[in-house]
Amino acid sequence: MRQILNMDFDWKFHDGDIVCTNFNSVHEIFENPSFMKSANCGISKVGYNLHKWDDIKVPHDFRHYKSEFSENAVSSQGYLTTGIAWYRKEFFVPAETEGKSITVEFDGIFRDSEVYVNGSYVGNHLSGYTSFSYDISDFILYGENNAIAVRVDATKYEGWWYEGAGIYRDVRLVIADRLKVKYSGVFVKPEVRGNAGGLEIDVELENEAANNGDAKLVAEILSPCGEKVGEFDTTIKLEEYEETCATIKGEISNICLWELDSPKQYKAVISVYLNDQKVDEYTQKFGFRTIAYTVENGFVLNGKPTKLQGVCVHDDFAGVGGAMSRSVIRHKIFLLKQWGANAYRSSHNPPSPYLLEACDDFGIVVMDEVRLMSSSKEFLGQMTDLIKRDRNHPSVFIWSIGNEEMAIHGRKVGVKIGNHMLRVAHKLDPTRACTYANNGHWHDITIFHEQNGLHMDVYGFNYYCLRTFDMYEKFHEKYPDKMIIGTENGSALSTRGQYLPRKGEDTADAYTKSSMKIMIWSNPERLYNISAYGEAYTTWGATPLETFRTAEPNYVSGYFLWTGFDYRGEVVPLDWPSTITRFGLIDLCGFTKDLGHHCRVKWSQEPAIHLYPHWTFDDNVGELEVDMVANTEEVELIVNGNSYGRVENPKWDIVKNFVKYEKGEITAIGYNNGVEVIRTGYKTAGKPAKINLEIVQPRDYVADGEDNVFVKVDVLDENGIHCPNADTLISFEVTGDGEFLGCGNGDPLDLAHEMNPSRNLFNGLALVIMKTKRHTGKMKLVAKSFGLESAEIEVDVTIPGTDVLVESARSKTKPKAAEPEKDAADNAF
Ligand code: GAL
Repeated sequence: MRQILNMDFDWKFHDGDIVCTNFNSVHEIFENPSFMKSANCGISKVGYNLHKWDDIKVPHDFRHYKSEFSENAVSSQGYLTTGIAWYRKEFFVPAETEGKSITVEFDGIFRDSEVYVNGSYVGNHLSGYTSFSYDISDFILYGENNAIAVRVDATKYEGWWYEGAGIYRDVRLVIADRLKVKYSGVFVKPEVRGNAGGLEIDVELENEAANNGDAKLVAEILSPCGEKVGEFDTTIKLEEYEETCATIKGEISNICLWELDSPKQYKAVISVYLNDQKVDEYTQKFGFRTIAYTVENGFVLNGKPTKLQGVCVHDDFAGVGGAMSRSVIRHKIFLLKQWGANAYRSSHNPPSPYLLEACDDFGIVVMDEVRLMSSSKEFLGQMTDLIKRDRNHPSVFIWSIGNEEMAIHGRKVGVKIGNHMLRVAHKLDPTRACTYANNGHWHDITIFHEQNGLHMDVYGFNYYCLRTFDMYEKFHEKYPDKMIIGTENGSALSTRGQYLPRKGEDTADAYTKSSMKIMIWSNPERLYNISAYGEAYTTWGATPLETFRTAEPNYVSGYFLWTGFDYRGEVVPLDWPSTITRFGLIDLCGFTKDLGHHCRVKWSQEPAIHLYPHWTFDDNVGELEVDMVANTEEVELIVNGNSYGRVENPKWDIVKNFVKYEKGEITAIGYNNGVEVIRTGYKTAGKPAKINLEIVQPRDYVADGEDNVFVKVDVLDENGIHCPNADTLISFEVTGDGEFLGCGNGDPLDLAHEMNPSRNLFNGLALVIMKTKRHTGKMKLVAKSFGLESAEIEVDVTIPGTDVLVESARSKTKPKAAEPEKDAADNAF
């Protein structure tokens, strides 16, 4: 029976390439496979101990791990140096598994990886974003220690944002029968038929043995609460050493739908029987939901018109770089959901499988995107890997076959490539639509596509709806039966908590000359400050509020704001030493910026109001712009007891006041039907007196060595008021049953190493991430700073980890039997 073993632990890491210099004899074990000779990669042999190796665990991003910022490194990649590196790991495989199929699965390696096992070259995978697996059964030494080595060449990039480097996603070893369900080999096609759910389950079987005759496939269907609600089967004819595919059909009654506010999921447990003996079991989650795109009602989910309130996201985070654990990914998705976002665009690359799992569990729809629009064998292969891996996720509502491919999209070559990709995508998944994120003069480009026979299922447009506001309308007039999706919008810039010009950024030198041209400022006085007010945006972009206004018509199904979170790289319009973009609505640490609050407030179903800036400035600062954004009928600003009047709240705008600063208290109040329904405000803080630690979204933690705890750090004055301008240096120590993983503060100019356990606050805030160990217990975080009262918190790690590890060679113990796969919903937070 199938065992899924965790391979994330006990890796060794070597920074730099390892090059062979000894070519004297081909019979020697070479350090490097500089030429092809079976089993000649010494690095992947047991006991290899030349060179310096660090002990690490994956996910691991070696650019983040090294954190070598350099003005000479690439700005779009966050000025972090990259390179080539090696990873190796030794592991024991029990003798009784001989004759089984052994596969190693990589969720993603950035990029151009070569894998070697016990000296033998196994394969090369170019894409830094798609998942892949290798059958290594022939290379394994049974009943012995084994070694795997991975060479990663991250010297080339795939995108224009920070991409990390190394084995930055999870690794597993799968031990199964030689007759087994193939990797990504199940496609559940659920169909809503009134209260009933029709099922067609395509199963691809791999038969790496001399089995022939009939095999039986049984699919047990488990309801969202784990009850068996159906069992269906079919017989499949096997040919020796041949792959086969069969479809199991059935129908279950009284289904629960996958809804955004109640994302119910089912499981299909597929068993393979040979001669009445069960040889494999494979579990696939899925969900029932309907999707329609209509010009009358826009995007319709389960019969309900649903405006897509989406964000585009790149995959990195403070403290961990590109090494995003399941826990960090779930944390980011949790923040978006909490904030009211209902859609996510995986821009511009295949995401981690955990991202889709999180969106399934939290109820967020996903636009799942390829890295490159191309119909070459390599890139059709990448799209195929993506669709086959992701097509069971109820959250995935559309495939995107490309983003802004200006060099081809208005030409015949683009039409041919686009059509080829659509053909392949539709064949792999007849249940979902495809779009393309078109930029530039998308109106004319679409006309060209239509005239030349490239018909997108849904028309995706990036930007320009504001600069030429009638572009959506003009398109609708020409194509009244086609729905528009704002595949990318926004691109407004802001720096969290930065209300006054910042030293180092208030000169033209901080801006690249070319990027100056692409920026618009609403307030010329702040020309050189990417402030928190969000008054800077690209010439192609707009503010979130303007975006919401343009997306009002029903034929516009929604928008995807650029971007949900700040990310490293793409630092326009600034330059070195700025290393983090300002496009995020939430900063790199997960702290919401004012523009993010604009979204939260407007997306909220409950009365909501946001007020900025805080109210702690130097006495002589003078007049300040004070903004309120609310979803109530009226708003009122009160400063030190003086009302600025109750005024009508514009639907898609902010209410601005200019106020002479005097310390004290500032309050914003929202009214509906003349009655106060919401209020918020700030008091002026005194001098920092004590450190404050707060767990962000506390929950039960898993003792699997991979779960993370997120702690917000700030300082308070003697009355307990948050000090919003504090830049205090704070040091951290984690003791007990947990470890310090990383920290950050979201400051684009702060080049401190995020794996050092100390950090300056940036505009009052920092984040610490801790990691559990592989046993339950308590971890403690202590935070200290000179002259301030220290703080500490304790976190209980209560849930035992269920993952089965591949033991390291040192221990030589046999792996235990695999537990059932962890049910994501069980410990969803
Ligand atoms: C878009 C592009 C994004 C990002 C953005 C910045 O055109 O698709 O990747 O570069 O511009 O505004």
